[in-house]
Amino acid sequence: MLNHHKKLEKNSILLLVFTLVAISVGGLVEIVPLFRIETTIEKVSGMRPLTPLELAGQQIYMRENCSACHSQQIRPLRDEVERYGHYSLAAESMNDHPFLWGSKRIGPDLARVGGKYSDEWHSAHLANPRDVVPESIMPPYSSMKEHGAELHAIGELMKTYRLTGVPYTDAMVENAYNDAMAQAHVDADATGLNERYGKKVNVRDFDGQRNMVSEMDALVAYLQTLGTLADIKDYELQEGQKN
Ligand code: HEC
Repeated sequence: MLNHHKKLEKNSILLLVFTLVAISVGGLVEIVPLFRIETTIEKVSGMRPLTPLELAGQQIYMRENCSACHSQQIRPLRDEVERYGHYSLAAESMNDHPFLWGSKRIGPDLARVGGKYSDEWHSAHLANPRDVVPESIMPPYSSMKEHGAELHAIGELMKTYRLTGVPYTDAMVENAYNDAMAQAHVDADATGLNERYGKKVNVRDFDGQRNMVSEMDALVAYLQTLGTLADIKDYELQEGQKN
């Protein structure tokens, strides 16, 4: 056996061929089963597309490249699950284009940050992280409170997202601007918004300024949804029944 191996090690072409064979076997074992299952996205209830305001917030998240420091992907490892909560499901990022999983954690993972803090905390933290976390090295984004969120073309953006498979209906696109306004004003009529996106949508004045819908409103609305849409308890129950 060892002699055979010696032959392999001394003949580079033979070594190359056997290396390729070994890698191919490994690759096939991993890849072929994926072709045989219908979808790699597990079924989980509760997932809905982002509302226009939340979508505008996600655009700001991309523009500011928050992913450079934050991941949105909790791996199924014990330390991660204990710190951040249930591991991320594929279904939870199926509407994100591009996905925002990130590859670096200079700051904590944000996949389940929704509901962890109050809106006031987020808007104070984003305006100047050191006001709430003295040792923070996160940059301040204080101007977001002064800039209005870009909502005039949000319906067009939703149409583009529809091309990538996000299930925005015609009614959602048509009412995009009004839905965004309704979500950020506590005293506005949110019936239509709730009909289109469900009862659980957060309708609040996210940045505490009543006079305008700012970038801060949009970004905080987006952050507050992270990890809260999919019904994880339901998913665990289904998994439990299978096993
Ligand atoms: C230079 C790296 C860096 C960038 C860029 C950055 N952050 Fe952070 N972020 C951090 C660090 C470090 C922390 C942990 C300390 C703290 O809470 O401020 C943090 C914390 C947070 C938290 C609190 C998380 C928790 O669970 O406690 C949120 C929310 C957050 N960042 C959102 C954002 C958003 C939104 C952006 C983009 C607008 C952003 N960050 C950009 C480094 C960064």
